Amino acid sequence: MAALIARSSTLNGVLRGSRHSVLLQNQPQFSQLHRAPAFRLMSSETQQPKYEYIVVSRPEPSVVLVTLNRPKALNALSSPLFEELNEALEQADRDDSVGAMVLTGSEKAFAAGADIKEMKDKQFADAYKNKFLEDWGNLSRLRKPLIAAVSGFALGGGCELALMCDIILASPTAKFGQPEINLAVTPGGGGSQRLVHAIGKSRTMEMVLTGRMVSAQEASDWGMVSRVVGEGEAEVVKEAVKMAKGISEKSQIAVQACKEVVNAAHELNLAEGLRFERRIFHGLFATNDQKEGMAAFAEKRKPNFTHS
Ligand code: CAA
Repeated sequence: MAALIARSSTLNGVLRGSRHSVLLQNQPQFSQLHRAPAFRLMSSETQQPKYEYIVVSRPEPSVVLVTLNRPKALNALSSPLFEELNEALEQADRDDSVGAMVLTGSEKAFAAGADIKEMKDKQFADAYKNKFLEDWGNLSRLRKPLIAAVSGFALGGGCELALMCDIILASPTAKFGQPEINLAVTPGGGGSQRLVHAIGKSRTMEMVLTGRMVSAQEASDWGMVSRVVGEGEAEVVKEAVKMAKGISEKSQIAVQACKEVVNAAHELNLAEGLRFERRIFHGLFATNDQKEGMAAFAEKRKPNFTHS
């Protein structure tokens, strides 16, 4: 039986089921905890939060793998799912033993978009006042690399979620699309903006105005994904984990710095971006890892980074 520890959390989906509530009330500190806004149940064995819509695992000691887990709804991105996703990734981002993260779905669907059933009766005032989908942007504030391993449908918010990741690997079965036009809305999770950067205006317009799905190969030819991996179930996850492990063997400081300078290219003009890159480059000469990396090269040995 998982003993329960409550931890302050942001929103719903937390005290799930009366069995947990009862156990929690038996904890001596319940009255104190009860005053906090919400709680997430945790297993005392693993200290990992118990999630309902995602599965969090460690395929390598330095790699966290998050698997979207709403198979019946093709991993439609409901608000509670996204809340769990943000929480798991932010936790991994804070964990010094983690070097990189991988995000995946199922063979059939990475994610088939925002949850249409959740959205269908939504009113403007509610969406606007409560900043609907704004928390999706939390992903772009992660400091460690996040690799998307995409199989099957990556549609609407699912395509946008992949685009929020730092690297996309696609299985040959992957299908990317922005079909919001068929629902009489625009993309709402950044697709219209990030796609223009990734594949240019004309191709973005085609995807957004027609809703046509593009194949993994087409997405690769367009530069939307880094590459299409070999065939086979879960092959794309294996490749992504291998890549994440490789990245986590580098200096974490240099990895974060590389991510920061590449992302700056979206926001700064060329002159500002070049200056920013150079300043970050200069700053790295203050790190032990730079000394170790260059000494190891000169001494023809493997570097031993201390992430300091
Ligand atoms: N939201 C909620 N439920 C969804 C869903 C979604 N985005 N996508 C699929 N589902 C559900 C279906 O309703 C169905 O549930 P039931 O069994 O309860 O009926 C289940 O998942 C399986 O789906 P299908 O039976 O439709 O499966 P299929 O293999 O025949 O078709 C599909 C697959 C082509 C992906 C089809 O499900 C589909 O077109 N889905 C919607 C895709 C879409 O429009 N995405 C954009 C959403 S809007 C958005 O994302 C806004 C944004 O920018 C943030």
